[in-house]
Amino acid sequence: MVIYLNGQRVDYENAKVSVEDRGFQFGDGIYEVVRVYEGRFFYLNRHLERLKNGAREIYLDLDFGIDTLEKTCRQAVKESGFDNASVYIQVTRGTAPRKHVFPEKSSCNWVVIVKEEKGIPDEAYKNGVMAITIPDERWSRCNIKTIQLLANCIAKQKAKKANVYEAIFYRGDIITEASSSNVFAVKYNVIFTHPANNFILNGVTRRVIFDIASENDLEICEERFRLKDLMEADEVFITGTTTQVLPIVKIDGKLIGDGVPGKITCSIIEEFNKLTKSVDC
Ligand code: PDD
Repeated sequence: MVIYLNGQRVDYENAKVSVEDRGFQFGDGIYEVVRVYEGRFFYLNRHLERLKNGAREIYLDLDFGIDTLEKTCRQAVKESGFDNASVYIQVTRGTAPRKHVFPEKSSCNWVVIVKEEKGIPDEAYKNGVMAITIPDERWSRCNIKTIQLLANCIAKQKAKKANVYEAIFYRGDIITEASSSNVFAVKYNVIFTHPANNFILNGVTRRVIFDIASENDLEICEERFRLKDLMEADEVFITGTTTQVLPIVKIDGKLIGDGVPGKITCSIIEEFNKLTKSVDC
């Protein structure tokens, strides 16, 4: 593992922040997870852009340059020697006495952590995985990738308890996303996914699916759909940086389509895998 804390390489034992870090006390911070395939970053530029936008949304002044962060990420991956890695970036509002109001003077605490990434076993992509559905109990600013992930953690724990891979959220009866991934449903060859508004995180991988759809003449529709539509879909898949494109073949114990990864899902996986071999930005 390679760790940079506030721009300095530190070993694990010295990678420490104060107990008064606002991330620790208030969840007052944002993060990104970025994949590296065979030494190439997979859309680091889009992740950094989202981080910048998230910082603006929560009135967090990034007191270091985004270019410094980018350089640090690249340097850390190089030093790690890992060909396939995940890079965790976290920025908090810094260290200050515990008061809800923002500190007048504080500097960000920011970390870059590089770990080797082995990925999810191939058979999950070949056979698909299962999911449950649960009410979306998160706040209504899910477009910001904040480190406040308690509702997501509870959801993932419920999935684990149910012996399935993921928990899919519904708000009212509208499918939003999942605990750590975006959700797509295919019906009559049209791919549906929740619009990129305040109720979902606009995933970098989600946007790659739009790129793939437009290059391959697949019809994709950013439209809300209901729990009932999800259960009656021909195909369902989820996307995320570590998840990639993963077919869901059973939800709440009910088979989706034929209970095997569908045609459109498989073609998207194929195109996605090609991109992981070429994208370098
Ligand atoms: N999670 N929605 C949620 C709630 C997420 O937590 C994530 C990613 C996504 C997919 O976003 P992207 O394609 O940009 O990775 C959607 C990360 C990987 C995590 O928390 O580990």
